[in-house]
Amino acid sequence: MTTPPPMSLLAELTHRCPLQCPYCSNPLRLDPRTSELDTATWRRVMDEAAAMGVLQVHFSGGEPMARPDLPDLVRHAQSVGLYSNLITSGVLLNPTSLAALADAGLDHIQLSFQDALPDPADRVANMAGAHAKKLEAARLIVAEGMPLTLNFVIHRQNAERVPAMLLLAEQLGARRVEIAHTQYYGWGLLNRDALLPDRDQLALTEQAVTEARTRLAGRMTIDFVTPDYYAEEPKPCMGGWGQRFLNISPTGRVLPCHAAESIPNVEFPSVADASLTDIWENAPLFTMFRGTDWMPEPCRSCPAQTLDWGGCRCQALALAGKADAADPVCHKAPDHGLVERAITTRPATPPAFRYRRYGNA
Ligand code: FES
Repeated sequence: MTTPPPMSLLAELTHRCPLQCPYCSNPLRLDPRTSELDTATWRRVMDEAAAMGVLQVHFSGGEPMARPDLPDLVRHAQSVGLYSNLITSGVLLNPTSLAALADAGLDHIQLSFQDALPDPADRVANMAGAHAKKLEAARLIVAEGMPLTLNFVIHRQNAERVPAMLLLAEQLGARRVEIAHTQYYGWGLLNRDALLPDRDQLALTEQAVTEARTRLAGRMTIDFVTPDYYAEEPKPCMGGWGQRFLNISPTGRVLPCHAAESIPNVEFPSVADASLTDIWENAPLFTMFRGTDWMPEPCRSCPAQTLDWGGCRCQALALAGKADAADPVCHKAPDHGLVERAITTRPATPPAFRYRRYGNA
């Protein structure tokens, strides 16, 4: 292999999910159940991933626990030496399903929360009782002795409760918590006016994280993801296009990131047609933005080009209309005014959510 292998595989087992979060990272067009990969194909994919040097598999969705074969897949990941992480809403988790996953060798669970309080949490998920199920799931996971990370997605309608979220994570016994501001592509972009915080709210969340890091040093790790729109520099999305991550959609499309299906005029490779190694090294979708040769100015002459790798291609497409444009969140980008306009034209009152549902986008 000439290109270093990816470190992680994100296995999106299904787009089905009981929740309807308006910032869901799934594409606007969701894959139907009938076209999902079967168990044998996912096993083969993991064989190929382990053989090419992938270290971790993240089982994701939608809600991956909607797949009854999840324990089989976890067991297979373990058998081929892949570290396994389950990214779940927790609403389908119970003592029996958790025991099956632990028995299969699951290494870690990342549990999503919508808020620290039940009513606003259930409103974002658009599912009554979801928050209570998540609390119970967290207690079961910790009692099982499974390492637990909590993930809170932050936006203008919950930013003030970041201190309460950090307290909840501490009380539940999480080893790690992610305070992650919403990313604005896909469903998040569709709901941007309902979600984008202002600068004061962002500052409050940063302050809460700084204080908690001091208070909880050595006991709980806190990751903070800033909202792109307020960053001076773009983030190195996915650690660089086609450099560290492989994403496989429920139907078997192999992608450099979860939003790459929005890229126009390129063929999406499939696990049905080629090996993962061949796709990783040769598929045009993976080579088109790998490295620095594709970069326009000002990225081409920017000293940070191998630190941020030009930012996020999907964001450039969503905002500037071209996937090979400089990421508009960069203050040097010609299209940076689009980001500033989104901030200054944000309505004072958030509009109603457009919930993630099959067919409503
Ligand atoms: Fe696709 Fe950032 S989400 S490159």
